[in-house]
Amino acid sequence: MLSEWSWSQRSLWLPITEEQTEQQYIDRTKRRAHFRAENKELKRQDQYVQKLRDAQIEPVYITNQLAEADGTAATIAAAATTSHTAAAESSTATVDTVPRQCAALTRSFTSRQCRVPIDWSALPSSLVPATHMPAARAARKQHQLQNMIDALRALLQHLELRRTTANSPVRPVVVDFCCGSGHLGFPVAFLFPECDVILLEHNASAVARAKQRLSSLRADTGGAWSNLRVVHAGLQHFDEPFDIGIGVHACGWLSDIIQAKCFQQQAAFLLAPCCIGKLRLGEGLQISLPLENGSTPSHVTAASARCTCGKQATASSPPPVRSCPLLHYPRSALYSSVLTLDQYLLLASKADYSDSSWDFSSAAATKGHAYKAFCEWDRCCAAREAGYVTALTKMNPPDCTPKNDVIFGIHKARWKEQA
Ligand SMILES: C[S@@+](CC[C@H](N)C(=O)[O-])C[C@H]1O[C@@H](n2cnc3c(N)ncnc32)[C@H](O)[C@@H]1O
Repeated sequence: MLSEWSWSQRSLWLPITEEQTEQQYIDRTKRRAHFRAENKELKRQDQYVQKLRDAQIEPVYITNQLAEADGTAATIAAAATTSHTAAAESSTATVDTVPRQCAALTRSFTSRQCRVPIDWSALPSSLVPATHMPAARAARKQHQLQNMIDALRALLQHLELRRTTANSPVRPVVVDFCCGSGHLGFPVAFLFPECDVILLEHNASAVARAKQRLSSLRADTGGAWSNLRVVHAGLQHFDEPFDIGIGVHACGWLSDIIQAKCFQQQAAFLLAPCCIGKLRLGEGLQISLPLENGSTPSHVTAASARCTCGKQATASSPPPVRSCPLLHYPRSALYSSVLTLDQYLLLASKADYSDSSWDFSSAAATKGHAYKAFCEWDRCCAAREAGYVTALTKMNPPDCTPKNDVIFGIHKARWKEQA
């Protein structure tokens, strides 16, 4: 008998033995067809990447390292400026000041003021991953949090605060969208007491865990933690004012909704997006993203609920809400001038890596990372077109999670030069 099916090419072409049943024969023929189709698809994705490159679109990562010397900072800043100039030149919104501001944001992000190692011993133990996770996983989680918090500090350095009518500054509001039980939001509230933090999640049991955590922390500290609030809601329905939207591993289009919600309010964004690969329209869960006039273009009415991270991304009911932004794919006008919706979705469908995700050096992972980089860069370009100063970086160390891309940006109307 043939050994159990494996996805290797070798087993696809093994000769059929006599013991094989007709069913096995049919199954194998189907798999061969699937394999051929996959291969053909991959070639097409490469062509789409080539199309983007022919249009001089190339994702550029800014470094995630501390810039020790001025020389390094200047080089990083120059790289950020060049890449953003190239993207902006062919986009609909070119703003002269943005490249300079991108360089400034990069400089802040790589500066010692923003690279402050988290003192985990100072945090309440319930917020320290090492206290409730296996060591290897906790170490990875702590790296992820460190990266997000470094970038948040850079954003806060450049964020112009909102003002009341009497001209007093309003405390910045940070929303941790799709927060789960609050792995990121709790440390943010602790480390940035000058901010008000909202944890937003639609899963009832995750919300209950977050609320339980908050009550225990309040009980332990005699009522502190007044700067944190847990909100049980689908992010589509959230329409309170906020200044910075953050999100770790919000699945597929949820990251896009978060970013679009930030655009609506000219709020800064900081995202480590999750599975782009499930941006498949026309299957799975139906979500409605209404236009202002109530009509819904057909190409955004359906999105897949399948997620390679194993979690379900679901729209909470009732689905259509006026505050929910409309999503277009590709996200940017720049990419839309090169790729059709179908081509973009095909590219996105492979911008992920499930089984091979922890094998960072495999061919599948390398391709997945490359395609994902193009998708993340599309989000940066969309933000540029909406008037944002943006950056794309990779977490440090990159193997702390397969979904290690981080995008962040700040609207030029809220931009503050650093003193
Ligand atoms: C991969 S988890 C990430 C959780 C958390 N950010 C973390 O890093 O631990 C994605 C989260 O998004 C939540 N989610 C899915 N759809 C949502 C929606 N429509 N509104 C709010 N949260 C949602 C899920 O319940 C889940 O907790």
